[in-house]
Amino acid sequence: MELKGKNVLITGASKGIGKAVAMRLAENGANVLIAARTQSVLDETAKEIADKTGVKVVGVAADVSKLEDLQRLSDTANKEFGQVDILINNAGVSSQYPFDKQPLEDIERLAHTNYLGYVRLIRLVIPQMIERKSGSIINMVSGSTLCDPLPKNFITYSSLKVGLRAFLKGLFWEMRDHGIKVTSILPGVVDTELTDKLQDITKEQKDRLMSADAVVDMVMYALSVPQNVCPLELAVINQQTPWTKPVIDYAQEQAK
Ligand SMILES: NC(=O)c1ccc[n+]([C@@H]2O[C@H](COP(=O)([O-])OP(=O)(O)OC[C@H]3O[C@@H](n4cnc5c(N)ncnc54)[C@H](OP(=O)(O)O)[C@@H]3O)[C@@H](O)[C@H]2O)c1
Repeated sequence: MELKGKNVLITGASKGIGKAVAMRLAENGANVLIAARTQSVLDETAKEIADKTGVKVVGVAADVSKLEDLQRLSDTANKEFGQVDILINNAGVSSQYPFDKQPLEDIERLAHTNYLGYVRLIRLVIPQMIERKSGSIINMVSGSTLCDPLPKNFITYSSLKVGLRAFLKGLFWEMRDHGIKVTSILPGVVDTELTDKLQDITKEQKDRLMSADAVVDMVMYALSVPQNVCPLELAVINQQTPWTKPVIDYAQEQAK
């Protein structure tokens, strides 16, 4: 896909993987609307991308766990850009608890952000893509969905991502009939602020995690394939185990 002049809506793009994706797309000439909750960080990122690339960058403070914010996000994208050519669903939160200790409100927060946030935004954006018979929807899922059993202390997070992955696989086939591409990215453990918050991670483990750029490469691949094909899922997994600890235990990997 020629990215120059394309309009991209990216959630969770003030830092981490989302920011790296937004920067790379902007460097390739795409206009980007970036969303996250914290206005100050968002403004800084929007300025950094605009200064470096010269494309149109719009920052919208929005919480993807709230339906009214998603509606505002989609309306703003249409107002600013006319249309959304590419939606990158990326905003997500992590949570590490033995299930019996996990606060109820944390379970709800994860479901509203990591599952409903994705599904609802797609529902809001696709009618126009269907009308135009084109569009790409790329979704940051998780490599943890490949683990069976799911990683200890991450079962709520990972099971919601499993549900999301199943939803997106189904959506792939429904949207294929309309000329819309749906791709799930399954990253392993990535060096971002999300993994800074992991309990029990050592500096050495953290330093050896994959960089966000490895994930961006998957997004760029998904957008570079010929018009008549679409990667349904792309997984990019850490190579040097046991460096995925404490998310995925080495013993758990060995047992597979
Ligand atoms: N890092 C990993 O190892 C890894 C592995 C597999 C999958 N993933 C997935 O990749 C995605 C990005 O992860 P990351 O590591 O880049 O995280 P990150 O560094 O913590 O960045 C998360 C981004 O999302 C925003 N965000 C969080 N909650 C939001 C909400 N409710 N509404 C709107 N924006 C929100 C954050 O800004 P605000 O806080 O200001 O809102 C920030 O811009 C997530 O879906 C995550 O599950 C990450």
